[in-house]
Amino acid sequence: MKFLYILVCFLSVINVNAVENILVINSSGFGDKSVTKNLTFKIKNDILKKYPNAKVVERDLNHDPIPHLSSQTIGGFFTPKDEQDEKTKKALELSNILTHEVLISDIIIIGSPMWNFSIPSVLKAWIDHVVRINLTFKLTGPNKPPVGLLSKNTKVIIAMASGGSYSEPYTKNLNYNSPYLKEIFEFMGAKDIEIIKVEGVSFGEEKKKSEIASAYNKIDKIIKNI
Ligand SMILES: Cc1cc2nc3c(=O)[nH]c(=O)nc-3n(C[C@H](O)[C@H](O)[C@H](O)COP(=O)(O)O)c2cc1C
Repeated sequence: MKFLYILVCFLSVINVNAVENILVINSSGFGDKSVTKNLTFKIKNDILKKYPNAKVVERDLNHDPIPHLSSQTIGGFFTPKDEQDEKTKKALELSNILTHEVLISDIIIIGSPMWNFSIPSVLKAWIDHVVRINLTFKLTGPNKPPVGLLSKNTKVIIAMASGGSYSEPYTKNLNYNSPYLKEIFEFMGAKDIEIIKVEGVSFGEEKKKSEIASAYNKIDKIIKNI
């Protein structure tokens, strides 16, 4: 019992769950007025207050878009490393970098504005580069489910904003944004996924303010447990 107590104290001192790498992905087209960017900014900064030494990689996919997958890149996905020629290696370069960023991150923060009931295409292009066979998921044989390769400790925080509201029973099935992102990260093996929503931003300033206030509350609760 005494040993267990000492072990718990020791582990809390060395902080085994320290956050070392944070990845922030934004995809809004509204620049500084973006609701999702405001949320991802707060999430990142609140985490940094607790873990000031964490390294942050940020990508603004609207400002610096990721190209759609080329046939050479797709070919590279299915070419074993020792058979890749220089052209294939070059075609895989960006995808390899983006995938590495995902794999090393303790926390992945995604800003996901709702666009036409779904996610912005720049965000989808990024997803296509990081959902990588034998890197972020693997197949396990016929009639067996694929297995995600992200660490089970990876935390994913999805910040979604939408003009309308999709929490009502009659609009729920139109939200192809946050449920899709949750599925894709689960597919890659993430087990700890939080969704923060700011809905109805087109319903006036008052509604927007109260939605953002609730989102901030939710963020505070999430950060407390990181
Ligand atoms: C191209 C585009 C498509 C949109 N499509 C939808 C939509 O299908 N449903 C919705 O509720 N809001 C839609 N909106 C509104 C955005 O979801 C809303 O403005 C949200 O705040 C965007 O997040 P952001 O402020 O971080 O960019 C759309 C906005 C844009 C620019």
